[in-house]
Amino acid sequence: MPHQNTIAVILAAGKGTRMHSDKPKVLQTLLGETMLRYVADAANAVAANVVTVVGHGQDLVRRTHPDLAEGFVLQEDQKGTGHALQVAWERVRASGASHCLVLNGDTPLVTPEALEDLMNTAQEGADIAFLSALLPQAGAFGRVLRGSDGEVVGIVEAKDYDPQRFGPDTGEVNTGLFCLRVSAVEAILFSLTSANRAGEFYITDLVGLGVEAGLDVHALPREDANTLMGINSPAELAIAEESLRKGIVDRLLASGCLIHQPQGVVVGPHAVVEPGAELNGPCRILGASRVAQGARVGAFSQLLSSVLEPGAEVREFSHLESARLSSGSVAGPYARLRPGAVLMENARVGNFVEMKKSVLGPGAKAGHLTYLGDADVGAGANIGAGTITCNYDGTNKHKTHIGSGAFIGSNTALVAPVRVGENALIGAGSVITKDVPDKALGIARARQSNLEGRGKKP
Ligand code: UD1
Ligand code: CA
Repeated sequence: MPHQNTIAVILAAGKGTRMHSDKPKVLQTLLGETMLRYVADAANAVAANVVTVVGHGQDLVRRTHPDLAEGFVLQEDQKGTGHALQVAWERVRASGASHCLVLNGDTPLVTPEALEDLMNTAQEGADIAFLSALLPQAGAFGRVLRGSDGEVVGIVEAKDYDPQRFGPDTGEVNTGLFCLRVSAVEAILFSLTSANRAGEFYITDLVGLGVEAGLDVHALPREDANTLMGINSPAELAIAEESLRKGIVDRLLASGCLIHQPQGVVVGPHAVVEPGAELNGPCRILGASRVAQGARVGAFSQLLSSVLEPGAEVREFSHLESARLSSGSVAGPYARLRPGAVLMENARVGNFVEMKKSVLGPGAKAGHLTYLGDADVGAGANIGAGTITCNYDGTNKHKTHIGSGAFIGSNTALVAPVRVGENALIGAGSVITKDVPDKALGIARARQSNLEGRGKKP
């Protein structure tokens, strides 16, 4: 349950120069979800209120995450992590929360458990609590400084760390996860200065300032803290993504999913794969997908926010987005199901069939080389190879209705809006521009003439 007395602030305004990408860093993805999504999920699990500080590429961040946008605060110039918190502070104050959790937007492996531990330390009386990590190589991370009795006295950023002045490196670094008592930190937050190498306002300076002001400051070292460190480079992103991927696949195997070539299987954090579902690697199951018990996904396929009901099958090399396959239905190999494609019970689509916003009724079939857009196909209908619904006139999209039991001959163009009646038959090669009544034969093609003796000269 999220804590009512806690507000979380996610710092996500930076550019992420070390990613060498035009995208704001927090929009880089792991298993198809942005870093920001992971951090927001963890924050929402523990805090009643979540605020995100955005800046660099904020329009894109907003468009990518409309559901989080209400909690966005704009940091117009990115003057550092301390400045980012200052920008959010009015919201923190207005929330009435006693505690403020601060998360960096580039820590997608952060867990609600780690946050809970940190919050407990703060609730037990600390004014400033933060998670630290002991790393063999402290690299570019902020160093935790401790006094002679082991008490925390400050954090010094890597750029400003001088062993002559601060003593030898202990390898204890700041994860960037803080829990602050709002009333205590208020007094020092706006006295941060930018007197450092980067010329930025560092949130980490709150630690030294807090100690000077007599606040209770705690660093909480965690064993798993190396997974909480920020991701700053493509290499670090790849390592984090692989560790998430493996964790998810191992959990699915343990729960009873059948997974062949598990090393090539990618399942997103919001996807559900039920025990008894069968996945053949390599494949990707992303977004809000669900693969039910007894459903099967063939190798080299991708599902994005698509649902396979029990016993549905996606064969090799198929691509599904926001599609739904009912029990006993089969798609592929080489099927492309775009948003709104629905296969009812026992329907089938074969190779090189594309569907968009179309429903294939129970037992209906489109076996080969077909485009169905904005189409309703009734139960048991058969769509011949090469059938195209011409749904777009250059300006608008129009619907095609195909009645149950209808048979559409091969290489037919159905020029929408058009209706083919139940049990109607369409001659192969027709261009159908007018409705065809129930049980009628619709045929619209040039007649064949055979001219005697006009063939090839021997
Ligand atoms: C930060 C910490 C460092 C810690 C490390 C852990 C500071 C000064 N340093 O360093 O001690 O070891 O995280 O990963 O806090 N951001 C803003 N506005 C800004 C600047 C940054 O919102 O003006 C955001 C970034 O988008 C990012 C987060 O704050 O999500 C951290 O910034 P980043 O530049 O990655 O800090 P580090 O140098 O990694
Ligand atoms: Ca970082």
